[in-house]
Amino acid sequence: MNNFTVKSLLKEVPNSQKVFIEGWVKTFRANRFISLNDGSCSENIQCVVDFENTDSEMLSKINTGASLEIEGILVESQGKGQKSEIKVDKIVVLGECDMNSYPIQPKKHSLEFLRENAHLRVRTKTFSSVMRIRSSISFAVHKYFKEKGFFYVNTPIVTGNDAEGAGEMFKVTTLDINNAKLNSKKEIDYSEDFFGKETNLTVSGQLEAESMAMGLGKVYTFGPTFRAENSNTSRHLAEFWMIEPEMAFYDLEDNMKLAEEFIKSVVKDLIDECKEDLKYLNKKLLDEDRAKPMNERNELNLLERLDFVINNDFKKITYTEAFEILKNSKPNKKKKFKFPILEWGIDLQSEHERFLVENHFKKPVIIYDYPAKIKAFYMRMNEDGKTVKAMDILFPGIGEIVGGSQREERLEVLKSRIKELNIEEKELWWYLDLRKYGTVKHSGFGLGLERLILFTTGMTNIRDVIPFPRTPKNAEF
Ligand code: 4AD
Ligand code: MG
Repeated sequence: MNNFTVKSLLKEVPNSQKVFIEGWVKTFRANRFISLNDGSCSENIQCVVDFENTDSEMLSKINTGASLEIEGILVESQGKGQKSEIKVDKIVVLGECDMNSYPIQPKKHSLEFLRENAHLRVRTKTFSSVMRIRSSISFAVHKYFKEKGFFYVNTPIVTGNDAEGAGEMFKVTTLDINNAKLNSKKEIDYSEDFFGKETNLTVSGQLEAESMAMGLGKVYTFGPTFRAENSNTSRHLAEFWMIEPEMAFYDLEDNMKLAEEFIKSVVKDLIDECKEDLKYLNKKLLDEDRAKPMNERNELNLLERLDFVINNDFKKITYTEAFEILKNSKPNKKKKFKFPILEWGIDLQSEHERFLVENHFKKPVIIYDYPAKIKAFYMRMNEDGKTVKAMDILFPGIGEIVGGSQREERLEVLKSRIKELNIEEKELWWYLDLRKYGTVKHSGFGLGLERLILFTTGMTNIRDVIPFPRTPKNAEF
């Protein structure tokens, strides 16, 4: 371990100071120029070897991917492209790298190929940039909530409830499922199981967060979330990270305002903190764009898209307004939607969401007051008896990035919703207690971390913004 990083060295004024650095070789040219990276930033530092006075056997071990320890002098660079470089005095090869079998060659690799080598892909410029951005966003999330007086709470990963009521859960059991004892209904007897009841991995920390908000006022969770939905799309993971704030005394309007301010604050912090990584990704996307036909190119580049989000109000419309726009839209009339917009009450599909955001409004859109039928049991019923105080935030290129609502705080209304949806009331006894003892108006939302990273990095597949993606038929690594 040493106190220097490539990032810190690149910022220093080269003044023949003695430096010491450890890292991995990105390229080694002409037996003389080593490009070294240690993960601290996307740039490499050039280390210049005096090959005539260096052991040639040792030099022959230096390949792309090898790990080195280098001692030398930081001097002004003779070549173009960098301000400073290290004039090498001493090299130690820490770990050799077999160039013949090393998958990460110094050339362009497809994202698919890198996904198959997810254990090594963080060594590429793109993935290390994405992962540094991921880290920075996570930190900005905590910073925002701390400054706003929220408390960070940890909700259980193993739970007995299905918060979203969608039944897309991974079961957790220690029973031998082939030899499990059956009850009188010939169903597995979970009273014999580890927890003495049926349990699963959480699909949302919301219900428990609501309980915490009823004593702490404003809380948020930020943790792994699991959904066994079999949707093999570029926006779904079976294991993802969700940020869920929950606020006592907030109505839907307050909730939408907070969500918008929160996203803007996180994106702004990211722009300040990850300039180099964003610049690199921006350039990469511009290069990719240039290879596309004119009509498929992005109107705004990545950095412009981020600025646009910070500087513009999100468009707020009700579900009913969104429905009307979609119904009368060109693609609907020309039968271009895979799911035609016919009757009020249908769930909006990703193609509809993207039409609204990318073609119609050309900005982030918040849709609120959704039909009760397509939303979860806990959302507050509106006076019309048909819609609930739900809100979704839709982003260009992504579709839904946030889902939230004002919660039903009235015990009797909540009970009747639970009954309507055939949910076992006794499973939710403690959740109903929150409405019995000092109930208050309250709201919250969930933001999928990976969807926000997709937006901020310009990556297009959610598998490429989490180190080791979990998707149907894929849990390698
Ligand atoms: O809309 P969802 O299902 O809302 C909830 O879970 C609420 N309990 C949140 C709350 O009010 N506290 O999910 C919220 C967000 C989505 O908008 C999306 O960004 C993300 O979580 N998300 C996923 N991200 C990746 N892969 C999946 N399979 C996701 N499912 C939801
Ligand atoms: Mg949702």
